[in-house]
Amino acid sequence: MSSTPAMNRQAKAARRPPSKILLDGGDPGETKHIRDLLGFVDGQTTNPTLIAKNPEVARLVKSGQPMSENQEAAEYRTIVRQISPLVGDAGVSIEVFADLDTTADAMLEQGREMNSWIPNAYIKYPCTAQGLKAAQRSVAEGLRVNITLCFSQSQAAAVYAATKGAKAPVYVSPFIGRLDDIGQNGMDLIANIKRMFAAGDGHVLVLAASIRSLQHLLCSFHYGAELVTVPTKVLEEWAQTGMPLPDASYSYPPTGKAIAWEELDLNRPWESFDIRHELTTKGIQKFVADYRSTLRQAS
Ligand code: G3P
Repeated sequence: MSSTPAMNRQAKAARRPPSKILLDGGDPGETKHIRDLLGFVDGQTTNPTLIAKNPEVARLVKSGQPMSENQEAAEYRTIVRQISPLVGDAGVSIEVFADLDTTADAMLEQGREMNSWIPNAYIKYPCTAQGLKAAQRSVAEGLRVNITLCFSQSQAAAVYAATKGAKAPVYVSPFIGRLDDIGQNGMDLIANIKRMFAAGDGHVLVLAASIRSLQHLLCSFHYGAELVTVPTKVLEEWAQTGMPLPDASYSYPPTGKAIAWEELDLNRPWESFDIRHELTTKGIQKFVADYRSTLRQAS
């Protein structure tokens, strides 16, 4: 009996890794491509940089047609509405537009609006004091949140403490590749946060992000990240190599300086954790710069 595309998809979907797989991208065409390739996509993460690269957004920019902030938001809404039905229960993460001066009130207002766009939204807030205030109020209102640009164990502890009592799982997104970029072993952060959360109530899930290689992906599975968000290129490589999973003998090739484990009490108030990190600041600046430089070409 010849196999049908639907059967192939089922067969591939049977090879589920231990972590949910999210696509890190802003193009629904890529989501379809990856769903066909793997047989499933559990969810998707977007951010201002990725949305600015969306083909339709790029076309509008190239046409010279100026876009107001409302039109930019409408484009973002159109994109996530196209992605939403293509993915599984890990949802679609939508990032608020925040610079270093954006207040929690302003982020929350955007978060509420974005949450109304699709039924499976996770609102992304940066891991700053204002972002965590917005997240705390969001979960109290029943919004699902994803705290992004996490670069330290203290930041992850603050996310945990700020979102206690959340009804839906909260995501925290530690960025592996960007820690590697500054000579640290980004994978250590995933291991340390998982170890710390083992003493908690399980309401925060680790979403390994800034994944740049197959080794980042395999090691994230190995450390038990509940979710991974992965660019198309790395998922294609994973598929081409037969969707491998780490076996019992797996070990990550050491890279960069080790990130030390910290003993942190998750029951402390979130404001008591030191959440400052230069890469969080740089990450916010980069999102703003990428987004504005692309869209402002048109105005
Ligand atoms: O998931 C976060 C991601 O989009 C950032 O990746 O490679 O720019 O550090 P990268």
